[in-house]
Amino acid sequence: MSSLLVDNIGELVTNGAGEGPLGIRRNAAVLIEEGRVAWVGPAAYAPAADRRVDAGGAAVLPGFVDSHAHLVFAGDRAAEFAARMAGQPYTGGGIRTTVGATRAASDDELRTTVRRLRGEALRQGTTTMEIKSGYGLTVADEARSLRIAAETSAETTFLGAHVVPAEYADRPDDYVGLVCGPMLAAAAPHAKWIDVFCERGAFDVDHARAILACGQAAGLGVRLHANQLGPGPGVLLGVELDAASVDHCTHLSDADVAALAGTAHSDGSGTRTVATLLPGAEFSTRSPYPDARRLLDAGVTVALATDCNPGSSYTSSMPFCVALAVREMRMTPAEAVRAATLGGARALRRDDIGVLTPGARADLVVLEAPSYLHLAYRPGVPLIRQVLLNGVPK
Ligand code: NIG
Ligand code: FE
Repeated sequence: MSSLLVDNIGELVTNGAGEGPLGIRRNAAVLIEEGRVAWVGPAAYAPAADRRVDAGGAAVLPGFVDSHAHLVFAGDRAAEFAARMAGQPYTGGGIRTTVGATRAASDDELRTTVRRLRGEALRQGTTTMEIKSGYGLTVADEARSLRIAAETSAETTFLGAHVVPAEYADRPDDYVGLVCGPMLAAAAPHAKWIDVFCERGAFDVDHARAILACGQAAGLGVRLHANQLGPGPGVLLGVELDAASVDHCTHLSDADVAALAGTAHSDGSGTRTVATLLPGAEFSTRSPYPDARRLLDAGVTVALATDCNPGSSYTSSMPFCVALAVREMRMTPAEAVRAATLGGARALRRDDIGVLTPGARADLVVLEAPSYLHLAYRPGVPLIRQVLLNGVPK
């Protein structure tokens, strides 16, 4: 069994036992065996190992867990972004433009885009990335989107209910029937999750409930896009269906926050339904940011994710989202880093990632900085020196 010691770590974020909310240990080392963390402790007591990575006093943290990304698409919408920056509102109507380009693309074109974006994210410290379908919206195009996504990630999500495609515009009930029937049957073998864009202009609460319930019956876990563009019933529907995560949460009522807080685990480890905030979307649509403080103060587990997609948030950078969350959403740097690592893991109902404690997957990042604080303090700077994925330096 070959072992690797990451040694001479000035500041180790464990998200487990240690100082403060990030479980920090100083002058630490991490022993990795068989892709897993085997030991964490003071560098002075580090066991011998076959190989050694010298962190040189830098900070080390769990790899980022990006629990919300739409990577299977073709084309871009740079002109739509420019129009928005000149004052046009974001409505989600551009999704159909991307659907047209995606349907026209070959498998290899889609695969190349997924790999390019996954590679971009990896170089910025993302070790787990959820990938949604949702730009195919036919049985064949949703199935191939998920097949291609599954080549790159174990966290794949069927989003056949992203919008009602143009050919079904005047018969949305028929489209819901297609999603719940043949489309789900073709998608489910390649998907772990089901998602619906529950929003005015996309799917109403009855359609969303019907689709998510079909997905659940087919063995998929539930997550949804909720309360992004305005207040609505999405968050309450997510709680009703025991969703792992409700995503966006930009417009929340007191009842929404209370319902999320009511999903708290009895052991104090957070909420069963996570609120995933996607500040890249508010940045790129010039919209008000979600109220992270209100959620955190109510005890709701918060995750940060990129929402990487060609319309509302074309960034693959978790460090950028951390910096936005701190500067624009008043999260402390520690809260933001926790949300980008452990929060994302909770949003995917995973306990083997987002932490650096014995038994966890050895997914970790060595920063080009002495502290995690620099992720928000030095925005836009490439601070990821090295990434280890499953114990393997990338
Ligand atoms: O999460 N809101 C729905 N879906 C994406 C946007 C997709 C698009 O504009 O292409 C989102 O923001
Ligand atoms: Fe999204």
